[in-house]
Amino acid sequence: MASAKRVAVLQRLLILLGACCGRISGSLAGPLPLVIWHGMGDSCCNPMSMGYIKELVEKKIPGIYVLSLEIGRSLIEDMENSFFLDVNDQVAFVCDKLANDPKLQGGYNAMGFSQGGQFLRAVVQRCPSPPMVNLISVGGQHQGVYGFPRCPGESSHLCDWIRKMLDIGAYTKAVQQRLVQAQYWHDPLKEEEYRKHSLFLADINQERCINETYKINLMSLKKFVMVRFLNDTMVDPPASEWFGYYRSGQAKETVPLNETALYKEDRLGLKEMDQGGQLEFLGAEGDHLQFSKEWFYENILPFLQ
Ligand SMILES: *[C@@H]1O[C@H](CO)[C@@H](O)[C@H](O)[C@H]1NC(C)=O
Ligand SMILES: *[C@@H]1O[C@H](CO)[C@@H](O)[C@H](O)[C@H]1NC(C)=O
Ligand SMILES: *[C@@H]1O[C@H](CO)[C@@H](O)[C@H](O)[C@H]1NC(C)=O
Repeated sequence: MASAKRVAVLQRLLILLGACCGRISGSLAGPLPLVIWHGMGDSCCNPMSMGYIKELVEKKIPGIYVLSLEIGRSLIEDMENSFFLDVNDQVAFVCDKLANDPKLQGGYNAMGFSQGGQFLRAVVQRCPSPPMVNLISVGGQHQGVYGFPRCPGESSHLCDWIRKMLDIGAYTKAVQQRLVQAQYWHDPLKEEEYRKHSLFLADINQERCINETYKINLMSLKKFVMVRFLNDTMVDPPASEWFGYYRSGQAKETVPLNETALYKEDRLGLKEMDQGGQLEFLGAEGDHLQFSKEWFYENILPFLQ
């Protein structure tokens, strides 16, 4: 009896150790790695954008492994894919990359910029291994968009073309399959069409059916941090950056996450996460993706350490 008890205690201790050290493996073998996913029209390694972020992080967390995702085989392809490569294929590509990176096997934090925010959420929901610890969405649109009032940088001609395509038929098969932005296009006047035909967002937001795996995987995050730009003129509506959206049937009034059906029915575990203190809503003054080094260090760095 006594020895059986001892074995049981020992087993429990081992489980505890396993649990603890799975979590803190980062601090034993160096800091927890960081995976970054860039936004629309950007690429992994532009020294003015993701390259700069990588540098900021490396400066404050010496020895950290930062992987800035390149979707494709060159910077040009990476940028083009942010417009034209089926998001579900992009997510599968990333899952495969993470699963095969030996430096990530003890877990990692993830930080997505703009559309990279919702794409990384798909990664944690679909691909639990290796485990994502904190997800930081910087201006990601978790309920999609219903407009691109402005486009970043040199992509404005592309934006005009994208708008035209979305007008022609965001939910037609041809546009859905060819245009990344159509896959998170959320028309509040056509919820039914969105629910039926959105190839990406309606799936990860459990609009068609509930995949319990998505819920379990998302809830395994330690923290899901959402940054909203308080003066955002590029995303319509900015409420989507905190998982809120237009109230169905019109495009003027928005509701916060906790007033949406997704939350009330807890289809994605967000209500439970909210109650458990796993959700963080941060506001940054400034336009889309505009923040200072000081703001980044003060507000984001704590989630990376
Ligand atoms: C639920 O999601 C997991 C992970 O992506 C997938 O393997 C599984 O096939 C999905 N189940 C259903 C019923 O769609
Ligand atoms: C819903 O969220 C808002 C912030 O977006 C908060 O002010 C409010 O208290 C929340 N309501 C409930 C019922 O939790
Ligand atoms: C952002 O908007 C708020 C009002 O919502 C305003 O007080 C603030 O000055 C603006 N900040 C910037 C950087 O434009």
